[in-house]
Amino acid sequence: MKLIELKHALGAGLAAVLLAHGPAMAQTAVTAVLRADQPGARIAPEIYGQFAEHLGRGIYEGVWVGEDSKIPNTKGYRNDVVAALKAIHVPVVRWPGGCFADDYHWRDGIGPRDQRPTKVNVSWGGVEESNAFGTHEFMDFAELIGAKTYVAGNVGTGSPREMAEWIEYLTSPTHSTIANQRRANGRKEPWKLDYFGVGNENWGCGGDMTAAHYTDLYRNFAAFIRVPPGTKTVKIAGGANSFDYSWTETLMAGAAKQMDAISLHYYTIPSGDWNKKGSATQFDEQAWADTLVQALRMDELVTKNSAIMDKYDPEKRVGLDVDEWGIWHDVEPGSNPGFLYQQNTMRDAVAAAATLNIFHKHADRVRLTAIAQMVNVLQAMILTDKDKMVLTPTYWVYDLYKPFQGATQLPIEVASPAYVLGASSVPAVSASAGRDPAGVTHVALVNLDPNRSATVTIRLAGATGKAVKGRVLTASTMAAYNSFDAPDRVKPADFKGATIKGDVLTAVLPSKAVVVLDLN
Ligand code: AHR
Repeated sequence: MKLIELKHALGAGLAAVLLAHGPAMAQTAVTAVLRADQPGARIAPEIYGQFAEHLGRGIYEGVWVGEDSKIPNTKGYRNDVVAALKAIHVPVVRWPGGCFADDYHWRDGIGPRDQRPTKVNVSWGGVEESNAFGTHEFMDFAELIGAKTYVAGNVGTGSPREMAEWIEYLTSPTHSTIANQRRANGRKEPWKLDYFGVGNENWGCGGDMTAAHYTDLYRNFAAFIRVPPGTKTVKIAGGANSFDYSWTETLMAGAAKQMDAISLHYYTIPSGDWNKKGSATQFDEQAWADTLVQALRMDELVTKNSAIMDKYDPEKRVGLDVDEWGIWHDVEPGSNPGFLYQQNTMRDAVAAAATLNIFHKHADRVRLTAIAQMVNVLQAMILTDKDKMVLTPTYWVYDLYKPFQGATQLPIEVASPAYVLGASSVPAVSASAGRDPAGVTHVALVNLDPNRSATVTIRLAGATGKAVKGRVLTASTMAAYNSFDAPDRVKPADFKGATIKGDVLTAVLPSKAVVVLDLN
């Protein structure tokens, strides 16, 4: 909708509110219409999924410390991390990779831990992999935090037989030799395998394949994903690298019927150049603006991939699952370059929130995503240093956005001036909305401008409200982050800047802020 049409749609009542906010109009003024009368698709809770790979300190130390550790743990899982993940209702975890997956042989990770083979993690730092965290440890971890399970299989160096036997081990209620092996290893009942990924990045680290070759292999492997009657495992085909739309085209043309979802990987590189990614914490405003431009390209990616998928799957049966995304910075100085350990600032939080708004908008096609990664790797929720733990600004976005899990998406048409710096330009305000099963409407507003506050005036089409409350995540500087010495520098607070009068909602957003409002 153009600005002029929007003003028309906003009507006279709104004009009065705009006048009442006169001084703030010196800042960015944004108008919007929330189409409460045009509910869209359900926002799958799994859009809030997490990726946990055997990479650096993501699993070992981050999640698993072992039963004998001095770090407080339950059966080897660190208590602080488990509690923090439970608090944000992690809906699904993807494991064991990533590039690691296509070198992983599941039998290495079962049975008594002291008898498991030590391997070399050839993908990440060449470090020793003890296999202490294997199938049982992952499936039990997911159960512990209340998450669904997403296992990524090995196509690159595995076989359909190895994969089929893993699935039998995981899911079979029979007394086959393999199912009994699971029992002997301590798990009587089969687990629920919610999602199974057929390889990872098979155009790259997962085998350097062409799209045509992978499509044939996908069909071959997928034919052997056999789960017990009455159960369902979502089959995910390994999708494209960022803007390689021809991969999506080939795979959809050749295997749409054999899949339930196709994945997509997209990492935001602040500078757009993998060789000069830049520091997570030492950056200027140009890097802030450039990062947001790159992050918002997710909209283009989802839109164009969905359009290709529509050709082969107009009913939208097949999901587009963005199972790796996030900002990729340089590693923290002094840390192992193969461990991908980076800090996380207000910039990461704003980019994550604006990306989640994009996923909400495309809820009809995007059914699962997994931010990379859960702990200590890339754009992590949580950072640990031995027994210490810190929650990142990105974690707090996931906390603020919890009410959107399972809500019905409500379209929101935003007319926002641009935030411009140099050659970079993005809409100053990003928004999304949803109605939860209890009937409460939630509105997410993100101010991408690091300097100017924004007055957002929203007309509610088909709804009125009596009360509004909310929370805000902001900071005094763009590069504010939580450290082990100052863990609470960036943390949500109650938001007092919103008012509602009939069908007009007004919010005055601080600069560089993420706000989630609840309307009653
Ligand atoms: O998340 C880190 C790596 O990025 C994954 O292992 C791989 O799939 C991607 O290239």
